[in-house]
Amino acid sequence: MSAPLRHATFSLMSYSRYRCIKTATLERQTNLCFWNTNLPSLDLSCYLMSYRFYCQCYRYLRRSSKINKSKVALLPRNNRNNLSTDACTPRYVLGIETSCDDTGAAVVDYHGNIIGEALNSQTRIHVEMGGIIPIIARDLHKQNIANVVDEAIKNAKLSNQDIEAIAVTTEPGLALSLFIGVNHAKMLASKYRKPVIPIHHMEAHALTVRMVERVEFPYLVLLVSGGHCLLALAQDVNKFLLLGRGLDDSPGDAFDKTARQMKLKNLKECAGLSGGEAVELMAKTGNPKSFQFPGVLSQNRDCNFSFSGLKFHAKNLIFQEELKQGIDGGNVLPNAGDICASFQDGIVKHLLHRIRRGLLYSELKQLLPAENKTLVLSGGVASNMYIRQEIENLCQHFNCRLVCPPPKLCTDNGVMIAW
Ligand code: KG4
Ligand code: ZN
Repeated sequence: MSAPLRHATFSLMSYSRYRCIKTATLERQTNLCFWNTNLPSLDLSCYLMSYRFYCQCYRYLRRSSKINKSKVALLPRNNRNNLSTDACTPRYVLGIETSCDDTGAAVVDYHGNIIGEALNSQTRIHVEMGGIIPIIARDLHKQNIANVVDEAIKNAKLSNQDIEAIAVTTEPGLALSLFIGVNHAKMLASKYRKPVIPIHHMEAHALTVRMVERVEFPYLVLLVSGGHCLLALAQDVNKFLLLGRGLDDSPGDAFDKTARQMKLKNLKECAGLSGGEAVELMAKTGNPKSFQFPGVLSQNRDCNFSFSGLKFHAKNLIFQEELKQGIDGGNVLPNAGDICASFQDGIVKHLLHRIRRGLLYSELKQLLPAENKTLVLSGGVASNMYIRQEIENLCQHFNCRLVCPPPKLCTDNGVMIAW
């Protein structure tokens, strides 16, 4: 099986790497304040899953482990039909996710049914430690990976032999964490003679929704997570047009740092929650109009994102409020709810501004079908119900359908990698 799979892998290399769209004339004509230069859009899949990436991946998977020197076949995500020649054979893919702080594994069949899954979240430990420490994340992945994978296969009532391929997150993420998942996938692939499918974490977030709802290409997708913020046009399983990206901190990081600065973990109701979940919970008790957060990149004629300004504004505000109210040690401000609500609202306003531009641009360039416009919202931050509701309101205005995976599939998990 390995020879044809290798050919399939390398056929991906023929993609052109960058593509630009000329926008200037139309923008000026319609006076919509759009990009005044050529839009620096990239074909995300070509950019992310380039020749170099596959070569590196291939070499990495072959050399990284001393466990087994035998060959491991690599399979591109969009070419899974190579897996089995017998159409009657049920096809199961094992997905392994260790890009950040969740050890996830799942078995999914070819129709997108989840056959078995298991997850070990490190959130509680990292919140206690005050942030993700890569070495600790790695050690926890190391401790749990075998159990999590075995549990997923056991829940699926299958054996390792029944799995046809092993999909594993290869990028982006914490190098030390990724290594554990990739190494485990390679070990299983060598032992059971299975091919490995390298998966891009953000692409997995962008496609998960198609497991739970019928969403046709092309659709607009906003990925808001602990590491990234991307607005892209999903044109196919492996073809994305990047419209906007984060220029600095991710929205998840802004949520996590703000929650930490406010010491929300010390509140009984926030114990064990991620920073974003804690801020969302506290925001329900506050007034979003209590504090004014600055508009972000409002003059920029593109769809890029920036969250560092909002994060630092929150940091200063908390510092000033604590000083004013004489709060010290591990105590939490009595008006923490108001700060959380205002901060969350600031994040939403920025997201809405950029999505609005993305939708207008897509309309102008007829990138989305006029009668069936869809925006997919995914990534850990997309599990925030306030953010969902506000984006839903905007979408209604544009006659666009908003689709979000259930919160469980928005945060990191093995299912999105196996699918
Ligand atoms: O996608 P994800 O699970 O991991 C990465 O790929 O980064 O996202 C994790 C991020 C964390 O920063 C967490 O604080 C944030 O998603 N998050 C939330 C919510 N739940 C998780 N942010 C806002 N509101 C939430 N309800
Ligand atoms: Zn993620």
